[in-house]
Amino acid sequence: MTIELQEKLQDFQTYIDAEEKIEPGDWMPDDYRAHNVRQISQHAHSEVIGMQPEGNWITRAPSLRAKKILLAKIQDEGGHGLYLYSAAETLGISRDELIEQLHEGKAKYSSVFNYPTLNWADIGAIGWLVDGAAVTNQLSLRRTSYGPYARAMFRICNEESFHQRQGYEIMMKMANGTPEQREMAQDALNRWWWPALMMFGPHDNQSQRTHKGMMWKIKRASNDELRQRFIDKTVPQAEFLGLTIPDPDLRWNPDTNQYDTGEINWDEFHQVISGNGPCNRERMDHHKKVHEEGAWVREAAAAFAAKKQAQQN
Ligand code: 3HC
Repeated sequence: MTIELQEKLQDFQTYIDAEEKIEPGDWMPDDYRAHNVRQISQHAHSEVIGMQPEGNWITRAPSLRAKKILLAKIQDEGGHGLYLYSAAETLGISRDELIEQLHEGKAKYSSVFNYPTLNWADIGAIGWLVDGAAVTNQLSLRRTSYGPYARAMFRICNEESFHQRQGYEIMMKMANGTPEQREMAQDALNRWWWPALMMFGPHDNQSQRTHKGMMWKIKRASNDELRQRFIDKTVPQAEFLGLTIPDPDLRWNPDTNQYDTGEINWDEFHQVISGNGPCNRERMDHHKKVHEEGAWVREAAAAFAAKKQAQQN
């Protein structure tokens, strides 16, 4: 490494440590750029793929009000994906490349979206738990060091909070509904609790990326810290619903003022992120199908933009 590069890296770290934001035109280490492309694009993929499990229930929503809320939420998720792809593109990679990486299995999306939505209670559990976990992570990312990513988080977090509340409202209705509805709410909690905890990633001591992510202030809290924040916030919500968290080892620890929990099934986690979850194949096949079907829209939009540009030149 040349002395010049060493000095550049030192200046860069000093700038990061001073809580400054890195902008697209700034010099940045290749690894910093690649780390952000990886994380932001996987975040964007998660937002878009996450539309599928919920989209399954638009035509089967129990009321017009419920359908309107679900439509608004799913539309928000598509928008979150677009903000995040735009943020990733400021790092010099095209959206086509990002989608290609997804389709070729070279990029990930959140494991949680590889589970099926079996009934309407799942839509409540996803909003309450999955969006609840996502917003816990995303509130922390509002302070991430890469400017365009941080700014995208502010808009996303506002909408994500609505997502969490609409899910909790569904769970409230069902937990206080008929015995069958209550049973559906408990079953949904049983099936979505552990996949929601997996959203925060491996334990810190197992995470290959966390050290650099924290050093460069891309991550502002570790995987385990964020997971614990989510657990401590969510357990009382389940108690308020009169539902039971599916963890026999869950107990309040007065010494730490936090909940102690059982161990996550990491074999399941690694199986799902390696492509062997219940719905991985379905999610990817659908994404590829609609991406191909939508090619004409992208081509028309690009042609229109080129024509407008030519008229202005
Ligand atoms: N699902 C899929 N992949 C996961 C994962 C999960 N639950 N948890 C970790 N991984 C992957 C990481 O992406 C990384 O893969 P890579 O090395 O191929 O890039 C690998 O497993 C090792 O994990 P690390 O913890 O070392 O990696 P990170 O430091 O990147 O941490 C992360 C993982 C916490 C997911 C981090 O990338 C992050 O905070 N991402 C931004 C938030 C995000 O992507 N949330 C996803 C949900 S978005 C959502 O839910 C939409 C909402 O509207 C419902």
